[in-house]
Amino acid sequence: MKNFSVVVLAAGAGKRMRSSLPKVVHRLSGKPLIKWVIDSVSVLKPDNLVLVLGWCAKSVECFLSDDSNIKIVYQKEQLGSGHALLQAERILGNYKGDILVLNADVPLIKSSVLLSLVENNRKTGASATVLVVRTSDPFGYGRIVAENDKYVEKIVEEKDATSEERQIKKINSGVYCFDENLWRALLKLKSNNVKKEYYLTDTVTILRELGKKVSSIIVEDSCEVKGINTREELSEVESALKERKIKELLDNGVSIIDTSNVYISYDAKIGMDSVIYPGVFIDTDVSIGKNCVIKGSSYIKNSRIGDASVISYSYVQDAVVDERVKIGPFSHIRQNSILNENVKVGNFSEIKQSVISGNSEVNHLSYIGDAQVGKNVNVGAGTIVCNYDGIKKHETIIGSRSFIGSNVNLVAPVEIGEDVFIAAGSTITHDIPSEKFAIARARQEIKEKEGL
Ligand code: UD1
Ligand code: CA
Repeated sequence: MKNFSVVVLAAGAGKRMRSSLPKVVHRLSGKPLIKWVIDSVSVLKPDNLVLVLGWCAKSVECFLSDDSNIKIVYQKEQLGSGHALLQAERILGNYKGDILVLNADVPLIKSSVLLSLVENNRKTGASATVLVVRTSDPFGYGRIVAENDKYVEKIVEEKDATSEERQIKKINSGVYCFDENLWRALLKLKSNNVKKEYYLTDTVTILRELGKKVSSIIVEDSCEVKGINTREELSEVESALKERKIKELLDNGVSIIDTSNVYISYDAKIGMDSVIYPGVFIDTDVSIGKNCVIKGSSYIKNSRIGDASVISYSYVQDAVVDERVKIGPFSHIRQNSILNENVKVGNFSEIKQSVISGNSEVNHLSYIGDAQVGKNVNVGAGTIVCNYDGIKKHETIIGSRSFIGSNVNLVAPVEIGEDVFIAAGSTITHDIPSEKFAIARARQEIKEKEGL
């Protein structure tokens, strides 16, 4: 659809969050609230996307660095949502088209619903369309005083409502579409209300006084337009989102043993017949293949896990894990590590920025960092790569089929050839050519105890 622009209101402090950060940078399922709204607006490709910032604007802006299409305007003093919207006049004052306006604290708003608001505004010839929802608990929201099912008479805020008006179960979701009469109406706003603010919602009354119609459409699922004002509401939406995600996964053939005891991000992809055990935390940007098993207290973020892999009690971040890999219990895989098919990384081993090629094993108490490990390598218990000289990190290369005995120190930079055997307890400081045996440790002596 063409010929519409969007304004997102995000200048408020969000005092009810009781936070030193602005409300809209608080995260829902790992993603800041402001990004949720921007993402669902951006897919519509509006002519302009204007964001009103104010309180702690700088800390909001750092979450927007990759959104170069956003035009930011500032509301210096937080004098209310209507005053906030007026700041966008500088950019959209002469714009000929519809203007979608939404609060930045409605993260689950759908792009399709936003479009239907614009369509409705055009179809009905109204000057504004308000997105309305029926709820059993309207507390805190603006109530819709309606002429009839289609047209809105006014919106009354909780604090200004009479006890009769407070009974109304139809509420304002904070999402609207206006025609160009918007600016005229905003200039007429007054702050003669309990909060002494310029309410955006009062434009409804003003437009009607100007002889215009204000229409509404109803969204059925109240969760979609849930406004987040408090930490409690944030956690309610988080739970709802998680519940939805879990249902989707269960419907697609994933087993989740205890649905109340896992955390799975909204964007996780998990293949059929994978099993998620209690205590698992799957953070953003994770895909897990088919037939995987993810066991207790594992944390996975920004990683791809191949089919039939098993992860137990482990921390996996920024990693690519191929098929049939076994990780854990108690492993730490991080920072661009790649584990190829059939690799095993076991108890208390850490892998950082390394490639471990197919069928290799790092099973016990090892640190492998900045290393390239070939295929079918056995890294013995307690082996570590000494990759850091206090200033720089250095690389270690281990050729395929080499056997690294237990408790070996590989002092980087160092290259171990293929089919090498390193004796346990060696400290390796020089390269080892392929097919050689290396030992680098003090020879054991046995002496009489007497005279020591
Ligand atoms: C608002 C609506 C209410 C609606 C509810 C839906 C008003 C007056 N009331 O109430 O009818 O039911 O949303 O969730 O709009 N903002 C600014 N500058 C300000 C004040 C607010 O930019 O000076 C922004 C906030 O950042 C926020 C939005 O406007 O994104 C709404 O403000 P908020 O304080 O959350 O309003 P509610 O009390 O939730
Ligand atoms: Ca709100």
